[in-house]
Amino acid sequence: MIQPRHAYFGGRLVPYGEARVGVLTHALNYGTAVFAGLRAFWNAEEEELFVFRPLDHFRRFLESAKLLGMRLPETAEGLAASLTELLRAELYREDCYIRPLAFYADETVGVRLHDLTPQVSMVAFPYGRYVPNEEDVHATISSWRRVDDNMIPARGKIAGAYVNSAFAKSDAQRAGFDEAIVLDAGGHVSEGSAANFFLVKDGALVTPPVTENILEGITRRTVLELARREMNLPAIERSIDRSEIYLADEAFLCGTGIQLAAITRVDHRPIGTGRIGPVASDLRRLYFDVVRGKRPEYRSWCAPVYSGKSDLARPEEAPAEIAATAGKPFRLAR
Ligand SMILES: Cc1ncc(COP(=O)(O)O)c(C=O)c1O
Repeated sequence: MIQPRHAYFGGRLVPYGEARVGVLTHALNYGTAVFAGLRAFWNAEEEELFVFRPLDHFRRFLESAKLLGMRLPETAEGLAASLTELLRAELYREDCYIRPLAFYADETVGVRLHDLTPQVSMVAFPYGRYVPNEEDVHATISSWRRVDDNMIPARGKIAGAYVNSAFAKSDAQRAGFDEAIVLDAGGHVSEGSAANFFLVKDGALVTPPVTENILEGITRRTVLELARREMNLPAIERSIDRSEIYLADEAFLCGTGIQLAAITRVDHRPIGTGRIGPVASDLRRLYFDVVRGKRPEYRSWCAPVYSGKSDLARPEEAPAEIAATAGKPFRLAR
């Protein structure tokens, strides 16, 4: 992974090496942090970097923080503005991943969520695929069960809860699979290790409802909207039994990291034909056009970083005030 040059840390941009915490930090010891994961997509024709649905991501980020009782002064709009500053400082001209984090920063001992001080950080770095074979994923049904809303709410991106995802992912990969499908305590399909689940059956999309201990994915919301609007495909949110997966025509995972990945086999059973199907293929094509800002009707989801001034993206041609900040700390202009 390429290390970023800058970080948003303590309300300003600093060199990445200065964004550090001590080993007693509460969040590091007890998982008391929440995070987000966004992508920015490089559009070569327009020489523009587009952040996909930043306000939706930051709103969920703030809701996750609220679940942990964090009182953050930031707004979704303010965080989006800070992200633009960060990306402009990095001068990326390629696809990237963005990681905002809100964590309890106190260097203290004691398991709790109250009387603690949250801090926000954000970094961005070049990033490609999360799984190498997005069109041919072999998944397994995990023996781990999804954390329940009354244990650690899955609708928040709570750092500590990701140990649950890590168990599922590592066991799947060590057993030779690409991904895990995780069931809830009642045995219904919840989601992947870090992605939402869909199946296609008899011309309809089916996905677990938000009450099935899933993260309410922004890609999931995007897929539901694109399927209904662009493909005239009915989309049903309901509980899914494990054996329905085996009998599905198609299945796929979606999320900011994994993007839209076709599941072609589950525990060595072929799904449908055992190859990527027409619905997943069409949705993938549509999705990649939309996120790169190539579909005018969805352009409002894509926030341009360089505001059409493509020369800002070239370090050697960057205006003096932008170039001067590269690699140096400076306060964010808000
Ligand atoms: C557990 C989990 N489910 C689903 C998703 C997909 O969410 P989104 O599409 O908002 O990235 C993620 C990804 O961040 C995740 O971690």
